[in-house]
Amino acid sequence: MKAILLRDPGGPEMLRAEDVPDPTPGPGEALVRLKAAALNHRDVWIRTGQYAGIKLPAILGSDGAGVVEAVGEGADEALVGREVVINPSLDWGDDERFFGPDFRILGLPDHGTYAQYVKVPAANVHPRPAGLSWQEAAAVPLAGLTAYRALVPRAAVKAGETVLIPGIGGGVATFALLFARKLGARVLVTSGSDEKLERAKALGADGGVNYRDEKWADKVRELGDGGVDVVVDGVGGQTYDQCIDLLNPGGRMVTFGATTGPVPQVATRRIFWKQLNLLGTTMGSPADFAAMLTLFANGGLRPVVDRVFPLSNASEAHRHMDEAAQFGKIVLEIP
Ligand SMILES: NC(=O)c1ccc[n+]([C@@H]2O[C@H](COP(=O)([O-])OP(=O)(O)OC[C@H]3O[C@@H](n4cnc5c(N)ncnc54)[C@H](OP(=O)(O)O)[C@@H]3O)[C@@H](O)[C@H]2O)c1
Repeated sequence: MKAILLRDPGGPEMLRAEDVPDPTPGPGEALVRLKAAALNHRDVWIRTGQYAGIKLPAILGSDGAGVVEAVGEGADEALVGREVVINPSLDWGDDERFFGPDFRILGLPDHGTYAQYVKVPAANVHPRPAGLSWQEAAAVPLAGLTAYRALVPRAAVKAGETVLIPGIGGGVATFALLFARKLGARVLVTSGSDEKLERAKALGADGGVNYRDEKWADKVRELGDGGVDVVVDGVGGQTYDQCIDLLNPGGRMVTFGATTGPVPQVATRRIFWKQLNLLGTTMGSPADFAAMLTLFANGGLRPVVDRVFPLSNASEAHRHMDEAAQFGKIVLEIP
């Protein structure tokens, strides 16, 4: 099969198309012939050598949708021929609160979806939501799962609350916007691009501020009538502390990433004085994935697809993500 291999860490040009042997499904596994895959920032962290436990060569990619071609021993034969999306949360374990010791994310150490075929545990394939194109279906899994768990099981966002989503151009952030609106929340966003702020408003955001403006936090406070109830943050760095400052008493800070690096300082006084709840979240359980998918079925929500690149142009797609040029998900079309 054709696959994109990363043999050494580095720039986008390190992602090269190669011919590799087709995977064979083992016991309990399904082999999926992929129609589309999608990028996540995780792929950039791995490509640039900034991820724990990197083993190369690797086929990156956590998101994929396609048709089940074959199953291994013990897996349900009826899956063959089904149109599916893949849950990239592998071996979550049996505790809803956190994953167990065998947990992995598809696309390292297991070979991922930047390829014509991928093998995954049969329990991780789910029916493609009716009404979504292959490209849309492939855009959903990792970012949709992360945003769903952040907003629903973790932050328990309620109708009428104000939710702040920093860096709305990001893949997870656009799903958080869709879900927060669906939950009936008021949504404020930030972005480094005025054009992306307008696109977010068209998707239902109630207000937006450009974070390149030194006074962005003051402007968010004004839009929130004094503060916000929930922040869903993948930006990290200085933004994290500024968001804690923006939270109303009793507010919830749910964090899933740190694109701009570690948090340099946190004014703990604000956390205890305002009785804040700091929540962490990563990926989600099988139950989270199934519940998240139902939001996309039968003419429900549609993911935001930014651009589609052919698989052979995976390096161009990475360049696009490196530049934070995207609004929503960057998809790879697979021949
Ligand atoms: N824990 C988990 O399970 C999990 C799951 C998914 C992702 N993550 C992590 O979450 C982060 C986001 O992932 P992603 O795939 O959604 O990334 P992405 O699509 O690459 O989005 C990153 C976004 O960050 C925003 N950003 C950059 N600098 C910023 C700043 N100074 N202030 C505010 N926003 C800023 C940009 O927004 P604008 O374009 O609007 O300026 C950019 O589009 C990554 O660090 C990733 O590793 C974690």
